[in-house]
Amino acid sequence: MREEIAGPEVERYLVELSAEQHRSDVLDEMEARAERDGFPIVGPAVGRFLEAAARAVGARRVMELGSGFGYSAYWFARAVGSDGEVICTDGSADNARDAEGYLSRAGAWGRVAYRVGDALAGMASTDGDFDVVYCDVDKDGYPECFRAAADRLLVGGAYLCDNTLWRGMAATGEPDNRHPGWVEAIREHNRLVAADPRFVSQIVPIRDGVMFAVKTAA
Ligand SMILES: C[S@@+](CC[C@H](N)C(=O)[O-])C[C@H]1O[C@@H](n2cnc3c(N)ncnc32)[C@H](O)[C@@H]1O
Repeated sequence: MREEIAGPEVERYLVELSAEQHRSDVLDEMEARAERDGFPIVGPAVGRFLEAAARAVGARRVMELGSGFGYSAYWFARAVGSDGEVICTDGSADNARDAEGYLSRAGAWGRVAYRVGDALAGMASTDGDFDVVYCDVDKDGYPECFRAAADRLLVGGAYLCDNTLWRGMAATGEPDNRHPGWVEAIREHNRLVAADPRFVSQIVPIRDGVMFAVKTAA
């Protein structure tokens, strides 16, 4: 499934630009594996944006809800630096094992803690505040993820969330018959974020739409 809101030419251009500064063998491997298995990673254009957004808020501690085999965590690990921390969550122990392999080879595993199980339970069992919470779980969970994340973020931090346009269906309201309830949940989520007086937010229409919400008040 392709999720390129801006169209393939624009998306290709953004991917090319994102490669100007950074590529690595491990990224190549992860992208090839995602392509081969049809695994939904964010890809390099969004990855680069996540790194930039995390750096913009000076993130040292990132909480990921839905980490897969560690592709988006790779970009956050770059942003937080060698003394930073990325806490990953995923329901699949296989994904956790694969993430350890990739991120170890990338020299980033030392700054990663990976919790297997429900993402919100993983966040609840992690002490402290976060500079960034990034959400990429199954889309029916989005409203609950934002509610939980909003309280755990430091003022000055950011909430980021992938797939908030859902191939444009979030804008049109057209239902996704393959995933009943997901469009409605994404729309509820987007409204919640947009209306929350603690946040200044907008959806950036890279690939499938990335929510970027800066927390400006407690
Ligand atoms: C879209 S993929 C994540 C991709 C990853 N963020 C990346 O770009 O590299 C979603 C992942 O979240 C996991 N997942 C979905 N819902 C979850 C939940 N409620 N709790 C924990 N993991 C969940 C799935 O197993 C899957 O690996």
